[in-house]
Amino acid sequence: MKAAASAHSNLALIKYWGKSNAALNIPAVGSISITLKELSTRTSVEFDPQLNADLLILNESHADPGKEKRVSAFLNLIRQQSGIDHFARVVSQNNYPIGAGLASSASGFAALALAAARAAQLSLSPEQLSILARRGSGSAARSIYGGFVEMKAGKATDGSDSYAVQIADEHHWALNVIVAITTEQEKSIGSTEGMTQTAQTSPYYKDWISSSNADLDEMRAAISQKDFEKLGEISEHSCLKMHGLAMSAKPGILYWNQTTLEIIHAVRELRRQGFACYFTIDAGPQVKILCLPADAQRIEKYVRGIPGVRRTIPTSLGPGAKLIETSS
Ligand code: PMV
Repeated sequence: MKAAASAHSNLALIKYWGKSNAALNIPAVGSISITLKELSTRTSVEFDPQLNADLLILNESHADPGKEKRVSAFLNLIRQQSGIDHFARVVSQNNYPIGAGLASSASGFAALALAAARAAQLSLSPEQLSILARRGSGSAARSIYGGFVEMKAGKATDGSDSYAVQIADEHHWALNVIVAITTEQEKSIGSTEGMTQTAQTSPYYKDWISSSNADLDEMRAAISQKDFEKLGEISEHSCLKMHGLAMSAKPGILYWNQTTLEIIHAVRELRRQGFACYFTIDAGPQVKILCLPADAQRIEKYVRGIPGVRRTIPTSLGPGAKLIETSS
């Protein structure tokens, strides 16, 4: 009862922030993302009668108790659905920093959902797999698919219609992203905690919810028309709106550092110089720059020269979660 799967991280162009049900991890708003080829996780899961607890090995070391507990809670869902009562050995390898705002939970839980479901011999539709991944992390529901992906908030109180669907695959439109790493440290406040604090205390939260459908509509149109300017403008808007919302919580949540802000200004300066590029930022200080392949190398070179930028990762769009090996 062993299986392994890979999944790629994703980047939200239209962000989700806030949950309508924290226990079931149902997002309060929909979101649209792109799946990133160069940021990936590979995970194997083995249910083993010899084990007396779940074990998580992350990048060749025994993971800290918090992460192991989160994985174990997720495996309980698999055990409930499959009737298996063995513990599991989970071995996961990430090729980029974990917990630093690069959606490691997205690729991590998408790969874990697929590998664990297969190891437990559950046969799930893509929607069911996306729902399962969502229970691990909201953004993981989107990493089941490649290319351009929309997460539906859904209406059902049990979360049965809260799953992601593919808008277009990774070959629809050759977009590039340059990920600028400003620190390799884990972020100080996790997204779930940040969302709860925001929903409970921000005076802007209601407007955030009510304005989200318009952003989703515009983004769907930009993707289908391959209108890069529109895609970039609405991405920056959604990003700044989300961070403005988080900053308006009590106490305010600020994920940026000085270099984050330097890069924001640099991207706007590059635009003034005629380069088509736009920034977006998730729950952390790293900046992701959206651009087209023709400009990618020059933009990357410029961004690498900004003081405080530790390194850059250029990427194109990638595929959805895939099984890589199975045996019983
Ligand atoms: O689902 P989580 O816990 O990975 O939170 C995702 C939060 C953002 O990255 C900021 C927005 C998003 O839609 O991915």
